[in-house]
Amino acid sequence: MAEHAHYDDDAGFWEEHADRLGGPVVDLGAAVGRVTIRVALQGHEVWAVDTDREMLDVLAERALRAGVRGLIHAVPGSMTDPLPVSDAGLVMVPMNTLQLLRQRSDQVRCLASAASGLRAGGEMIFDLAMPHLRETRALQGEILDTGRGLDGDTGDVLLHTTTFDEVTPATGEVRMRIVVDRIHRDGSRTSVERPHHLHLYDPDEIPALALDAGLEVVAACGGFRGEPLGPDSDRHVWRLRRPGP
Ligand SMILES: C[S@@+](CC[C@H](N)C(=O)[O-])C[C@H]1O[C@@H](n2cnc3c(N)ncnc32)[C@H](O)[C@@H]1O
Repeated sequence: MAEHAHYDDDAGFWEEHADRLGGPVVDLGAAVGRVTIRVALQGHEVWAVDTDREMLDVLAERALRAGVRGLIHAVPGSMTDPLPVSDAGLVMVPMNTLQLLRQRSDQVRCLASAASGLRAGGEMIFDLAMPHLRETRALQGEILDTGRGLDGDTGDVLLHTTTFDEVTPATGEVRMRIVVDRIHRDGSRTSVERPHHLHLYDPDEIPALALDAGLEVVAACGGFRGEPLGPDSDRHVWRLRRPGP
């Protein structure tokens, strides 16, 4: 299973920051290890945290096949829990995953746990979708083509569609469904539907969250290549640091 395999906008990004900051690395909401394994292949020890044990089982199998099982610790748990390490160089939350925390108290708890588990000078880095809530609300109910990819493990073709069922600009809350149609190599098709209830963050929310969690903002960019952040950006990418002693 590699439903997120089509997403490669961040290719090289997490590896570069892991090399710069050093391990151990913590991957919050690691799913099947799309990024965990890439970072372990750079030689870093990675702690992969996810609430979904099945995802972590797949991650472990994939890590074995990639020859990096010994560098990876798969940890069932929430990104609001204390980190499984106390001296991380990097806590990463790739692919909009922080958006799954809708309550501000949970968001602060997650950032504060990262702050406690980072060594001084270590960084928490995450990417988020830009809200564009009015435009998104205008698309409510439509079935949107959101990408095609190849499952590198099986050779299956994956077709992604997204439907926004409810968009609330006042709060940034969104209910949406992602459907992944899988065309197997023998031509048969199966489909999975994943409902999501998200908080889309306005970039203005992040500095206050960081402050409440004891982290300082190092950089906010509009993409993975250091693009300037502006109202037309597709995403916001944040680097927050645990201050030095
Ligand atoms: C968008 S996927 C993550 C994709 C992955 N980070 C990547 O870059 O390929 C979201 C993941 O977060 C997990 N998840 C949901 N709520 C969580 C929580 N509170 N703590 C940790 N993981 C959570 C889900 O099980 C799912 O695997």
